[in-house]
Amino acid sequence: MPALVVIGSQWGDEGKGKVVDVFSSQSDYVVRYQGGSNAGHTLIVDGKKTVLHLVPSGVLHPNTKCIISTGVVLDIETLVQEIKALKANGLLQNDEQLLISDTATVLLSYHRRLDQAREQDAKNEKIGTTGKGIGPAYEDRASRKAILFGDLFSPDKLKEKLKKSIDEKNFLLEHKYKEEPVDIDKLFTDIQGWTEELRPYRCKNSPYEIHQALKADKKVLFEGAQGTLLDLLHGTYPFVTSSSTISGSACIGSGVGPNQIDKIVGITKAYTTRVGSGPFPTELDDEVGTHLGTVGHEFGATTGRKRRCGWLDLVALKYAIRINGITNLALMKIDVLSGLETVKLCTDYKVNGEKTSVYPTTPGDLSEVEPIYKEVPGWSEDISNAKSLQDLPANARSLISLIGAEVGIPIDVISVGPGRKQTIWVKPLF
Ligand code: GDP
Ligand code: IMO
Ligand code: MG
Repeated sequence: MPALVVIGSQWGDEGKGKVVDVFSSQSDYVVRYQGGSNAGHTLIVDGKKTVLHLVPSGVLHPNTKCIISTGVVLDIETLVQEIKALKANGLLQNDEQLLISDTATVLLSYHRRLDQAREQDAKNEKIGTTGKGIGPAYEDRASRKAILFGDLFSPDKLKEKLKKSIDEKNFLLEHKYKEEPVDIDKLFTDIQGWTEELRPYRCKNSPYEIHQALKADKKVLFEGAQGTLLDLLHGTYPFVTSSSTISGSACIGSGVGPNQIDKIVGITKAYTTRVGSGPFPTELDDEVGTHLGTVGHEFGATTGRKRRCGWLDLVALKYAIRINGITNLALMKIDVLSGLETVKLCTDYKVNGEKTSVYPTTPGDLSEVEPIYKEVPGWSEDISNAKSLQDLPANARSLISLIGAEVGIPIDVISVGPGRKQTIWVKPLF
């Protein structure tokens, strides 16, 4: 069973980075296949924190190859900084560990500037993007104007593509947003510097590399970014990101067939968070919300923004299980619930006075639902050192069983703290 997809089942920041790091000890490859530096994946090993935005979260395991594949929008300036920081901390010792696909989309400063200018201009209708240029970069790809990573190594072609791509951006920046235009010559020179830094990682045919690995029965882990409810097609549109974040995207973004995937692991917080605008039925604006935010340190790993917090929404989780085909769950941050007198799980929604367990797919409808909760007793013990299910208080064990029974799929991993070792494996992964 060598190929496994790890995806976020909520609005991102579920703890994917931690799980991928933990799973990577058994993985030969970790592949990032969508999103860009809007992602912030936190890894904590022996108390040392590493936040990754573009480099796959397998990087702390020197024998695990990390591939940034076609579906990613690659902010080369940020990537160069990220690689430098990893090297300075002795965390990326071997250049052969990282591979960057020639067909990944290059993201440059003008994508970021346009993203930020649009958000500023939107006034009361902001999406609350990370400002990392994700939307504009995917627009370039869809409109066939994108610069691909492989283009960086042909300066003449690059200059021509850059001019074409920047022309429209400059028109918007100057005339619509009243900003300075992009200085093409300066950018071109900068790009040449970044290209040299990234040359050692160039991978001319990443789908072939992944196919060969799968053929040789290597263990390949596909690392999702963002979360199901931020999916461009199936999320809370328009309050979503600009890529497909569901499990099928692992195939599209890396060029493997769906029949290659053996397991889809959904990463789920024991409560819910969201950054940015959009509906959030179980959001809490009370002392429990403050508890979750404070004890859970719910601040964005990319932007530092405060995350909105609320109870676990099982209606949304069941929707995520269906549209991703999630086979197993990892339940994260259950330690954050310690100290709450009772814990609530949203089991159904009330819509126009009627009870339903069906998740509505239009955000307008989602803003109108009223959550129906099941309330169970909490626990006061600190569980962050628990090594097995038996170490957990009875009420925590009951909560985990209840969640498993409600959603109908196994919970294979329980996370009781941010550290690599604060992980209870109910069942082996591969
Ligand atoms: P990702 O984007 O899905 O990788 O998640 P983030 O890294 O953005 O956010 C998850 C946060 O929760 C990080 O600060 C992690 O260190 C932390 N974290 C992960 N698992 C646990 C856990 O089980 N308990 C606690 N308390 N923190 C956790
Ligand atoms: P990880 O991988 C949480 C959210 C933004 C905003 C919306 C659109 O760390 O889980 P974008 O910049 O993508 O155009 O913003 O998506 N968002 C995330 N929220 N975690 C993330 O990534 C996110 N990436 C984007 O806050 O609401
Ligand atoms: Mg994150």
